[in-house]
Amino acid sequence: MFERVSAAPADPILGLTEAFKADDRPNKINLGVGIYKNEAGQTPVLATVKMAEKRLLENEATKSYLSIEGNPAYGKEVQKLLFGADSEIVASQRGFTAQSPGGTGALHNAAEFAYNHLGVRTVWVSNPTWANHGNIFKALGLEVKAYDYYNAETKDLDFDAMLTSLEQVAEGDLVLFHGCCHNPTGIDPTQAQWEQLATLTAAKKALPLFDFAYQGFATGVEEDAAGLRIFAKQIKELLVASSFSKNFGLYNERVGAFTLVAADKEQGATAFSQVKAGIRANYSNPPSHGAAVVTTILQDAELKAQWVAEVAEMRERIKEMRDLFVATLAAKGATGDYSFIQRQNGMFSFSGLSKEQVQTLKEQHGVYIVGSGRISVAGMTKDNMEALCAAIAAVV
Ligand code: LMR
Repeated sequence: MFERVSAAPADPILGLTEAFKADDRPNKINLGVGIYKNEAGQTPVLATVKMAEKRLLENEATKSYLSIEGNPAYGKEVQKLLFGADSEIVASQRGFTAQSPGGTGALHNAAEFAYNHLGVRTVWVSNPTWANHGNIFKALGLEVKAYDYYNAETKDLDFDAMLTSLEQVAEGDLVLFHGCCHNPTGIDPTQAQWEQLATLTAAKKALPLFDFAYQGFATGVEEDAAGLRIFAKQIKELLVASSFSKNFGLYNERVGAFTLVAADKEQGATAFSQVKAGIRANYSNPPSHGAAVVTTILQDAELKAQWVAEVAEMRERIKEMRDLFVATLAAKGATGDYSFIQRQNGMFSFSGLSKEQVQTLKEQHGVYIVGSGRISVAGMTKDNMEALCAAIAAVV
């Protein structure tokens, strides 16, 4: 039977990592996947994670199953981080969180719930968006429509066009927003724009779904939740898929969360029972370790403060690399104004490089970036900057 199967295309992001690994040029540079690297080009385990793991190793008493939704203490910490420790959602207990296998697992949980229990058939995503969004939603049978987001000329948010396309959203459609550090453009709405987006989403009676994978990488852990918190004030029902891959550096532990916010606790409990039924049929219950690490850190004031400082360090290093990247491109004589790169948030820079230029960078210079022209600034170091910018200057 298997002879009937044709090969799947390589994944635009993770497939690039495979190609990078297979490349035996010693000076190759991987700026594809969004993984933080320090100045030495390594992705170390955070110090707070190591401390929490030590505690867990000493105190863990069982490897018995977690409940279907995972550890309730984890869910509580997730909600405090999303909505604020003293938020009304936390106090009224109308938020329900499932510990999920990564942000991708959380998006799957959200889409499955929306499709099976709310009758949602259409999801709106920004153009452009993370390459995996379409895969997740289409696999569940949702139709994916795109709303305008990026203006390639101004290299900025095209807010008017965004509003115009969101005017076409139908009642009950799912609308996906990137909580912060928009992937791939690095351009986020302002607070005033978030207010307008929330008002429009409410008027359309659409269901917002926040993909929140980079909390802490734009301005700060609390500050980056501004857009989500503005929505939560204006709209009673919303969904959030969050991830701790980046801000806790827990990539391979697959630790994310799906949070459902209902109008009240009773409705939320009923809706969440269906989320749990969906999880049971999918992966039964979540893996424990990554979420246990996050919970240990967030429950301990001292560890939490240290973690906030570690996130700030990652954020600041990326900002430093943005400045150095722009300066080095100019020094290497790359034609064009690249100052827009300094205005972008998070790990990525949407460079404006064409598919052909991306291809040439890979083939001739061993520089790997995503086909859309998205560059992971988090993978730049002072050591690879000269070679990187010389290569870019040669292709533009
Ligand atoms: C990325 O966009 O590079 C990351 O979110 C990793 C991934 O899974 O694609």
